Amino acid sequence: MRRAIFLMLWFGVCVSGVTAQKTMVAQETTSLPKKTTDPDWWKHAVFYEIYPRSFADSNGDGIGDLKGITSKLDYLKNLGVDAIWITPCFPSPQVDFGYDVSNYENIDPMYGTLADFDELAAEAKKRNIHIILDFVVNHTSDQHPWFLDSKSSRTSAHRDWYIWRDGKAPGEPPNNWVSTFGGSAWKFDPVTNQYYYHYFYPEQPDLNWRNPAVQKAMFDVTRWWYKRGVSGFRLDAVDILFEDPSLRDNPITGPGVNAFGDPIEQNKYNTKLPEVHNVLRGLRKIADEYDAVLIGETWTADIAELNQYYGKNNNELQLPMDFLFTKVDKLSPAEFRKQIAAVNSASGWPTFVISNHDIPRSYDRYGDGQHNDEIAKLMAALYLTLRGTPILYYGEEIGMKTPPPTRKQDVKDPIGRTGWPKEKGRDGERTPMQWNDTENAGFTTGIPWLAVPSTYKTHNVADEANDPGSILRFYQQLLKLRHSNQALLMGSYKAINEHNDNVLSYLRVMGNHGIVVALNMSGDPQKIRLELRRNGFASAKVLVSSGHSALVANNLSLAPFGVFIGELSK
Ligand code: NOJ
Ligand code: CA
Repeated sequence: MRRAIFLMLWFGVCVSGVTAQKTMVAQETTSLPKKTTDPDWWKHAVFYEIYPRSFADSNGDGIGDLKGITSKLDYLKNLGVDAIWITPCFPSPQVDFGYDVSNYENIDPMYGTLADFDELAAEAKKRNIHIILDFVVNHTSDQHPWFLDSKSSRTSAHRDWYIWRDGKAPGEPPNNWVSTFGGSAWKFDPVTNQYYYHYFYPEQPDLNWRNPAVQKAMFDVTRWWYKRGVSGFRLDAVDILFEDPSLRDNPITGPGVNAFGDPIEQNKYNTKLPEVHNVLRGLRKIADEYDAVLIGETWTADIAELNQYYGKNNNELQLPMDFLFTKVDKLSPAEFRKQIAAVNSASGWPTFVISNHDIPRSYDRYGDGQHNDEIAKLMAALYLTLRGTPILYYGEEIGMKTPPPTRKQDVKDPIGRTGWPKEKGRDGERTPMQWNDTENAGFTTGIPWLAVPSTYKTHNVADEANDPGSILRFYQQLLKLRHSNQALLMGSYKAINEHNDNVLSYLRVMGNHGIVVALNMSGDPQKIRLELRRNGFASAKVLVSSGHSALVANNLSLAPFGVFIGELSK
């Protein structure tokens, strides 16, 4: 039914002579820098995040794996992806689905072998696709040999690799810090009668980054992978590498308790300590030797904090993720304008993320339940045409949903069990990729580790590849345009029609070349007169659009949630 309505809309556009074509392919303008020899390759690249458990299963055990990823490289190339960030695929007890690493220099057997990784790297290289690994820097698994030795005695070689302290009093932890995953952040270990610190699960003890031996070991891990062909890392939880050495209690900021029943604290003494910047400079120095990129999971409160992660001389993270964008979860031109302007004023190159394995998908955050596919295209047209590097989460390109678990007994993510029903965990964000409309969406021939959402029947790669009006085809067109148009890649950003409450519009300009983007964020048709002349351009010719979008003498008509992207002329 939904598909039939969609095809009718598509047909309506095709037969309308006065409106712009629904989609048009970009034209080559100027030649682009060659990625392989360009140290700034990450500025021109489109990144794609893969949650390996859920991407493609090659051996029918219900869990995605590296061979599965390799088998989809042509799909990714075709989509317009230049780099894949694979969330942790290292040996792990999988308490936090890989974010509890027990060996940084190997592959978990459930995902394959180092030989499989090498094959993936070689095949990716053939297609000019970079591989980014996820480096879990703050903590290891409690099964990592470093921790097993550390806990074995107070005098063990690795004792000081983690954070061990006496309790405040018998039966009382060293201070009031709570774990972000629930309960005290301290776990008592009867073997040595001390507590160890864990910001996340007790199975994820925090490393002691004040110990130079830890720094050296972790820096060496990055070298090991660079030599294996990796082009960079996404650094997990970098905000929290250091803690106040005197372990002062955190202030309690509110009445009541959180989803886990813990007091509401401000993480004043265990996050964002300035010492982290020395570590980032060290990691960057090594990265620069390999033309590699460092992406940061940085939960910055404002642009001043974001700037700190770029480093005073742009010598820390190239791409600290700015999650403020993910907090604008209503279609508000004013809010996006504000956020885009702020990021553009930052001291480094922007990064745009609209969802990931911890954040509900954009389809649900912005969808109104009626025009979700159109809204998915609108959001794509936004984050893929801004000045900055986009990081696409797998499945966004086909309009995957975030179905939260409906029963506690189905929940896989442990925080969804301890926090139920207030916190249902992150299973909804991590469901299997929908490749086709066969059983289990073509993800596995076995039983998928997480149920496939029922929307796979209408939203899957195979069907959308054959549907010129699909979200997938729209992504492909946008990415093709992005790769071939210098103004979109590197041009300046300029907001126009800034007082319009319904339409977000802006220019991307490089020399004489320019692109105009206009996005109707409302459910009503809109007509606006684009401010082109006052910005030195006479008119625009459509390159990509959705809905019935037409520009006549700078008067633009946009369908509900419609998109217009045009090439400017003087
Ligand atoms: C951030 C990761 O994105 C999340 O999935 C994980 O649970 C925590 N860091 C702990 O590593
Ligand atoms: Ca598998």
